[in-house]
Amino acid sequence: MPDVSSAPTQEPTDRLGRPLTDLRVSVTDRCNLRCTYCMPAELFGPDHAFLPRSELLSFEELTRLVRLAVGLGVRKVRLTGGEPLLRRDLADLVASLAALDGLDDLALTTNGLLLPTHATGLAEAGLTRVTVSLDALDEETFRAIGDTTASLAGVLAGIEAAQAAGLTPVKINTVLQRGVNDDQLEDLADFGRRTGTTVRFIEFMDVGTSNGWRREQVVPAAEVVERLAARWPLEPVTGDRPEEVADRYRYLDGGGEVGVIASVTRPFCRTCSRARLSAVGELFTCLFAAGGHDLRAPLRAGADDAELTERLAGLWGARADRASEQRATTGLTGERVEMSYIGG
Ligand code: GTP
Ligand code: 5AD
Ligand code: SF4
Ligand code: SF4
Repeated sequence: MPDVSSAPTQEPTDRLGRPLTDLRVSVTDRCNLRCTYCMPAELFGPDHAFLPRSELLSFEELTRLVRLAVGLGVRKVRLTGGEPLLRRDLADLVASLAALDGLDDLALTTNGLLLPTHATGLAEAGLTRVTVSLDALDEETFRAIGDTTASLAGVLAGIEAAQAAGLTPVKINTVLQRGVNDDQLEDLADFGRRTGTTVRFIEFMDVGTSNGWRREQVVPAAEVVERLAARWPLEPVTGDRPEEVADRYRYLDGGGEVGVIASVTRPFCRTCSRARLSAVGELFTCLFAAGGHDLRAPLRAGADDAELTERLAGLWGARADRASEQRATTGLTGERVEMSYIGG
């Protein structure tokens, strides 16, 4: 083990008193879908300049940064993309992260299409669980939203493969857009009940500046809960993690759990303890930040663990982000990082 004895032992809190407990790590900005709300094909076409491989952090570099973040209080790491399963040999990264002392939860967010190939290897490498993005159970709507010829059956096979490999509980993320897939709500909830997965309905957000977001397209979480409860009586579940983004509900008939993520109508910045690392090693302290803080340069210039830890702790300590709360009062303006670059 490298010497970290000179690193600050105190876990930092930011300017609003929030600790750093979660790190979301993007491993690629590429994706095999072109969801209209995330990577519209007009902007992410054949000529789009994705990050060249040489720019990406290596698995050794990534593992080192995560290890230092764990030293500052991070207990949960989520691998994201783009589509993280497009990163070659991802299971090798999973294995080295899973070996870190102090990390309780190592999850992955994926569109599921490549899970049939990778689920077993990821589970063997030590991945805890997966979350699969799925916006429709109707083939035509699925293809329209993902702007793809891929088949919905591929995602469903991916979910099954994850369950068979023990990457459970599998969660399903559904971004609802009024007039696009809000008619899928009950079918998706029913799917969750039948398959033992936890569906979370996410309010469509103005992440980035290319998805043409309009407030009228947001389906408020309260409306979602009302519709679900009209069909299947529900009761709220109190979680034990204050930083959790989903409001959880339990079906009274024993059908499992369902959740809503009310990022627009009920922002949860107050308890936000998440940092995000881009595939090239920039630390973003908010999903709605214009830019990140470069950690790769000091890393590659030979900074030791204590120096990198100090930089991480300093960036967190200086943080005062609360963009979703500000949206409610002043709206969001200016440059914002794209979702596919920072992984949601
Ligand atoms: P678990 O519940 O532990 O599985 O993880 P999670 O709640 O972090 O789930 P996930 O990473 O799947 O997040 C779900 C979605 O919530 C994301 O895709 C975003 O759309 C939204 N979200 C997550 N974190 C934030 C955040 O910090 N700010 C905002 N505004 N939205 C977020
Ligand atoms: N609003 C809300 N959620 C989004 N996601 C991607 N773009 C948006 C958006 N504009 C979700 C995806 C995926 C996760 C990474 O983020 O559906 O589940
Ligand atoms: Fe890809 Fe996920 Fe974005 Fe869809 S939402 S384009 S699957 S990264
Ligand atoms: Fe955290 Fe920024 Fe999301 Fe608020 S908007 S919850 S500060 S990432």
